[in-house]
Amino acid sequence: ARAWRGIVEEYRDRLPVNENTPVVTLQEGGTPLLPATRVSELTGCEVFLKVEGLNPTGSFKDRGMTMAISKAAEDGAKAVICASTGNTSASAAAYAIRAGMTCAVLVPQGKIAMGKLAQALVHGARLLQVDGNFDDCLELARKLSVDYPVALVNSVNPYRLQGQKTAAFEIVDALGDAPDVHCIPVGNAGNISAYWMGYTEYARDGISSRSPRMLGFQASGSAPIVNGAPVTSPSTIATAIRIGNPASWKLAEQARDESGGLIDKVTDRQIMAAYKLLAAEEGVFVELASAASVAGLLQAVEAGRVERGSRVVCTVTGNGLKDPDWALAGASSATTVPVDALAAAQALDLA
Ligand code: F0G
Repeated sequence: ARAWRGIVEEYRDRLPVNENTPVVTLQEGGTPLLPATRVSELTGCEVFLKVEGLNPTGSFKDRGMTMAISKAAEDGAKAVICASTGNTSASAAAYAIRAGMTCAVLVPQGKIAMGKLAQALVHGARLLQVDGNFDDCLELARKLSVDYPVALVNSVNPYRLQGQKTAAFEIVDALGDAPDVHCIPVGNAGNISAYWMGYTEYARDGISSRSPRMLGFQASGSAPIVNGAPVTSPSTIATAIRIGNPASWKLAEQARDESGGLIDKVTDRQIMAAYKLLAAEEGVFVELASAASVAGLLQAVEAGRVERGSRVVCTVTGNGLKDPDWALAGASSATTVPVDALAAAQALDLA
């Protein structure tokens, strides 16, 4: 066994890098593929969680960002920019620091989790809160990257998806073959597209015998792909996927159709229930958007769209610590006790 080196070195021969690419890494990837005992019981499937919240900045974005920033460095970029619902900006800010670049981020005012805001700020990003939604931010970031010397590192940057496809490689490497079904939250629709690239690449090269059905889940108030039309004022408590006009819309539909999968929506209530289930019964603290994959699996099993006995991987995309308000909201408050063992024992119902 040797130490994990980050996704670019681990999968170098499958990524568009060469000897001149300065690899900018925080040793992302190599995340757990965790058996989900309770979700397996509930669904009659063999369910695993791909725990992407354990990446360096706490989300799957790091896989894409190591590639995007490395390629920007190769091109001599001095500054990068992104629009974000929070995780992309946190990741871009951290990787830009490693590369010695400046980073500008555009986020929808008042609509991103506190932890993510803190990450962008602590890593020294130039943060603009835009009086608009994510889709407005992305349009602005695109314009700025065209008119000014600043490289765009959103998932419309093709290197992002290249990096993110490595999560599918890791899953096949761990299981020995592709799962039957892969469930994943859908926001800007880059990640579902990246997984599909990864799975089909491995199948094409005979490393896996097949590719899974891709099941993507949007929040019901932000479900443009399911509805078949952009949503002008997207809403959901899962702010990470509060997106009305996904940039990778067509690629996501392609992943759905080529895999015989589906893209469906889950309500905020279902997302919240799955979030609590993961925390209380699996010991895995994810952010709300991440729970959409598990909420969606439960719904799909219920509707008979996933067969019992299937092997299923759910990507949980981000760490729950980014947005602890929702956890605190549902919890009973802590009891205060004096420095006294008996009082503590009584408060714990031990005595
Ligand atoms: N889950 C989390 C935690 C996310 O942060 C995102 C996207 C998604 C799921 C959806 O992935 O966009 O590839 O379909 N967050 C972006 C951001 C939009 O700015 O951090 P997607």
